[in-house]
Amino acid sequence: SQTVSRDEDGVVTVGGISVTDLAEQYGTPAYILDETDFRARARAWRTAFGTDADVFYAGKAFLSRAVVRWLHEEGLNLDVCSGGELATALSAGMPADRIAFHGNNKSTEEIRRAVEAGVGRIVLDSFQEIVRVAHIAQELGTRQRVQIRITVGVEAHTHEFIATAHEDQKFGIPLAGGQAAEAVRRALQLDGIELIGIHSHIGSQIFDMSGFEVAAHRVVGLLKDIRDEHGVELPEIDLGGGLGIAYTSDDDPREPHEIAKALTEIVTRECEAARLTTPRISVEPGRAIVGPTAFTLYEVGTVKALDGLRTYVSVDGGMSDNIRTALYDAEYSVALVSRSSDAAPMLSRVVGKHCESGDIVVRDAFLPADLAPGDLIAVPATGAYCRSMASNYNHVLRPPVVAVRDGEARVIVRRETEEDLLRLDVG
Ligand code: LLP
Repeated sequence: SQTVSRDEDGVVTVGGISVTDLAEQYGTPAYILDETDFRARARAWRTAFGTDADVFYAGKAFLSRAVVRWLHEEGLNLDVCSGGELATALSAGMPADRIAFHGNNKSTEEIRRAVEAGVGRIVLDSFQEIVRVAHIAQELGTRQRVQIRITVGVEAHTHEFIATAHEDQKFGIPLAGGQAAEAVRRALQLDGIELIGIHSHIGSQIFDMSGFEVAAHRVVGLLKDIRDEHGVELPEIDLGGGLGIAYTSDDDPREPHEIAKALTEIVTRECEAARLTTPRISVEPGRAIVGPTAFTLYEVGTVKALDGLRTYVSVDGGMSDNIRTALYDAEYSVALVSRSSDAAPMLSRVVGKHCESGDIVVRDAFLPADLAPGDLIAVPATGAYCRSMASNYNHVLRPPVVAVRDGEARVIVRRETEEDLLRLDVG
């Protein structure tokens, strides 16, 4: 993140506060989130897309009330995908018309709440949902603005579990075989909904822009078919999120202004070729905004050297605060942050405290050979999909999120307590 530095003793400082002070005050493990960096990234996306486009932060990456307020202040919109995310957004004062509601199986109750709240758009994901949302809106005496999510059939170059635009998967309505066109036909006939655009999200942690290019081409192709068949030009197109970030030094992410320029050019070019008025573009970055802004601070508990293999470094968290390594084979880096060391690098594996051997946080890393219990280590780029996917496995308590800014730290999500755990256990 932007405000990280090391003092002369090798102690890392973030947002003007040392990690040793943070560990002392808030305990470990903890997610330390740099608010200045978060705001700068949000603003960079907002500025890059300008006033002719909208940026919806994908709340699934990480959502809390403080984050909602920062987004609101920085002029971003919000994408939510459950009643819980919607409730968080509304309770922190995000105006409903700046919220988009996603999901492949929204419950009737969730739809009702979203329509009642007046969300700016609901992204429809199935034929059943087209009818469901239309009925609910009609019942409530309103007309809900909607987009239809389609799958354009591109293979995004990312992990299978987070690729979402190939045809054989649960999201969206396939463009292939005329299904998307049929969905549009049905949506246009229903009074309870107003079809404002087409949505496509091709996957996550993507670096190669060619997938977006193909997606934009195909979405515009559908807009053209809609114009030809129905005589209407839909005013919006959403290209989803998915822009990759640097987890290790091998990754080379694009800047928001490059992404904005590329996407705007593609859509404009395609629309000109199809003689369509260029629709308003929106995007939904989650990881690219919050991912790099936080690191997880752990304390080393044990150091176990296995001759000829590697050294296992156990920390006080693990797969409960970062499931991504176990689930996607994700790569992370790690650094000793509580002191400097001149010791030789040793091949290490950072593991958690959970009762299974797949409980790995960093698969391969070099840490100094004098690493010892009590040292603090940090795993960068854990702002996205770590706290939001955290679990209570082994009844481990979920870590807090501590926001730092200008020399001040503030808990924005507190550490879970045993009381919290036991409160749900009513048997
Ligand atoms: N829009 C839609 C419709 C999405 O489904 C997603 C992510 C996003 C936007 C935001 O994507 P982002 O910009 O954050 O890549 N748990 C996985 C990622 C799952 C992403 C799901 N959808 C991970 O930890 O990598």
